[in-house]
Amino acid sequence: MFLIDDLRDFINACEAHGMLHRVKTPVDWDLEMSHVATLNEDSGGPALLFESIKGSDMPVLTSAFTTSQRMALCMEQDPKLPLSALARKWKERLAGGATLPPKLVGNAPVMENVFTGEDVDLFRFPSPRFYPDDGGRYIGTAHYLVCRDPDSGWTNLGTYRMQLQDKNTVTVMIARGKDAEIIYRKHAARRERMPVAVVIGSDPLHFLVSSTHVGVGVSEYDVIGALRQRPVEVFESDLSHLHLPAKAEIILEGYLDLDDRRPEGPLGEFTGYYSSAKDISGAGMAPTIKVQRVMHRTRPIFWASTIGKPVNDCHMIQAINRSAMLWHELETRGIPGIEGVYVLPESCGWFWAVIAVRQAYPGHASQVGLTAIAHYGLKGVILVDHDIPVENMGRVWWALSVRFDPRRSIQVIDRARASPLDPSLTRDSRFIMSKVIMDACTPFEWDEKPKEVFLHEATLQEVAKRWADYGLPLTGPVAEVLKRASAG
Ligand SMILES: Cc1cc2nc3c(=O)[nH]c(=O)nc-3n(C[C@H](O)[C@H](O)[C@H](O)COP(=O)(O)O)c2cc1C
Repeated sequence: MFLIDDLRDFINACEAHGMLHRVKTPVDWDLEMSHVATLNEDSGGPALLFESIKGSDMPVLTSAFTTSQRMALCMEQDPKLPLSALARKWKERLAGGATLPPKLVGNAPVMENVFTGEDVDLFRFPSPRFYPDDGGRYIGTAHYLVCRDPDSGWTNLGTYRMQLQDKNTVTVMIARGKDAEIIYRKHAARRERMPVAVVIGSDPLHFLVSSTHVGVGVSEYDVIGALRQRPVEVFESDLSHLHLPAKAEIILEGYLDLDDRRPEGPLGEFTGYYSSAKDISGAGMAPTIKVQRVMHRTRPIFWASTIGKPVNDCHMIQAINRSAMLWHELETRGIPGIEGVYVLPESCGWFWAVIAVRQAYPGHASQVGLTAIAHYGLKGVILVDHDIPVENMGRVWWALSVRFDPRRSIQVIDRARASPLDPSLTRDSRFIMSKVIMDACTPFEWDEKPKEVFLHEATLQEVAKRWADYGLPLTGPVAEVLKRASAG
């Protein structure tokens, strides 16, 4: 068993499991790095550690989460577990609203190297330009912003993309209604600057959780603690007074400047289309962060995600955190019988979920669908009976074929909160979307249900025991039958 407390632990675990490749040849941050990473990801390849990036002395990690095996390593779980099983573990650890606050420590390795004032130079970092029509270099694609609510003291962690502007300035694109926006509006109302910190490279679970909506007023540090079952080690910054992860690779500290807004983007986004701040606010400008201090460990590791078309880090992260949180929410609402929740990585890890329900009363499946569809960003929910494995699209399509009648089984919701990055909506109506529930469950209330075909269990077990006699290789389904046979 391995423990992961920082990015270095994760890289070592990937390497030990044969899931990391070191790229030694010099690579350009301008397009080349993202193109190597994307081709590698499309080929189902390992995580990459680029050891020599032109113009920088820092290595760059990419493709960290593009397989469920590496996601499992990050969660200190068995790499054989599929994504929906990892989501189950996640929601189990948060059951009953479990949280664990961070632990304050004195020694912070991230403070090994500190630069302030004129010595701050963000061009030292190997920030990539990912796609040909990107508006610039992105320093923040696998990172998070830390800020604090001035009323309650709640510390929020959120991943919001950051474009490099000049040697001590980045823009940050925070969509409407996100937690950091709620918090910065409070600072603005008090006419106070909002202190912020940007963390690049840390325990990778921090990145997974900082891109999860855990709820207004809940600190992601406390959720990470509950998921890890040990507290996050933080130190108190003498500049921003924020609590920051002691073992981070790189931290940029400063304040959010709402008076200095700059053009932002475009960036090839997680939908597979370009988007710029124009999609979020008509003016097309984003607020800046003025960086007053840079800290980093010796030989820090920079981290980047390719974003763009599915499936890459971004889609896998959102698929797991949204599957887990949706499942957690359904259970918190007291809805029984949820057997599986799976937000598809191919749906950008965002738009479509399959939920398996063990129906116990009339209207049960519909209740699940109506509750789930309220989840921010979901465009469609497909409900299936508990015998359908949620990740098995062959079986989901079968249910959509034989247990689904469009007129009876579809409910459309007309007005819901949309993601402004959704390219299927017209630019002037990107904040409101419609949604659909597709119920592919056999109606519970039917007295007479269609008779389904099953194999004869006793014959099946006999056949499985004699499998070698037929000259056929042992496969997963045969092993399953043998397991049932030996269990009696
Ligand atoms: C790689 C990545 C990049 C993201 N970029 C943005 C972004 O630029 N703006 C944004 O509002 N949300 C972005 N998100 C989604 C947010 O991280 C997510 O909604 C999260 O819940 C925000 O934190 P909050 O709930 O504390 O506001 C991104 C997610 C990922 C995985």
